[in-house]
Amino acid sequence: MDVRKAIEDRRAYRSLDPIAITDDLVNDLASSAILAPSCFNKQPERFVFVYDKDTLEKMHGALPKANAWATTASMLIAVFSERDSDCIIKDREYYLFDTGMATAFLILRATELGLVAHPMGGYNEKRIKEVLGIPENMTVITLVGVGKKSDDMNPVLTDQQIAIEKERPERLPLEEFSFKNRYKTIP
Ligand SMILES: Cc1cc2nc3c(=O)[nH]c(=O)nc-3n(C[C@H](O)[C@H](O)[C@H](O)COP(=O)(O)O)c2cc1C
Repeated sequence: MDVRKAIEDRRAYRSLDPIAITDDLVNDLASSAILAPSCFNKQPERFVFVYDKDTLEKMHGALPKANAWATTASMLIAVFSERDSDCIIKDREYYLFDTGMATAFLILRATELGLVAHPMGGYNEKRIKEVLGIPENMTVITLVGVGKKSDDMNPVLTDQQIAIEKERPERLPLEEFSFKNRYKTIP
C-alpha cells in the first residue's frame, strides 16, 4: 500500500493526452469513491461519467475560457449532491464534505492508475445540469477532467498556467495550518 505516493504524484495538470474510457475504468473509479467515509454512511455523492463525444461537446459549452484546457479531457466527471441527503448537525451541513472526500478517493485512484484527474470549480452550473439532466435542487460541486499527462504543453494555457504546469504551486508551511495540541492564531 503506497497512498503517500499517489498523494505526491497527483497534480492538477492541464496538458492532457487522450485515453480510452472503458466500463472497467468507470466502475473502478466509482467503486473507489463510494468506499470513502460519510456521515452515518449516507453516501450523498453522485457522479455522471461523461465520455460520449456529443455530450462532452455540450459540456464544453459550459466552460469559461480559463478552463478551455478541459476540452482535451477524454472524460469529464460531474460530481453533485443534495444538502438534505446527508447529515445536518446543528449548522454543520456534511454533504459537501462527504462528497469532497469521495472525490478525493476517486482522484487518488485515478492517479494510481497513471491518470490525471483534475477537479474544477469554473463552469456554468445551470448549463451542466441541463445537459446532464441533474435536478434543480442538487448542487454540481465540481467537474473532474480525466486524461493522461501530455509531454506537450497545451497551447491554450496562459503563461501562469504554463508555470504551474511545470512546478507544483507552493503550499503553506506546516506551522501555518497544522498545530500540535492547541490552535494558535498567527499574528
Ligand atoms: C474546488 C476546486 C476548484 C478548482 N477549480 C479549478 C478550475 O476551475 N480550473 C482549473 O484549471 N483548476 C482548478 N482547480 C485546480 C487547482 O487550481 C489546483 O488543484 C491547485 O492549484 C493546486 O495544484 P495541484 O493540484 O497541481 O497541486 C480546482 C481545484 C479544486 C479543489
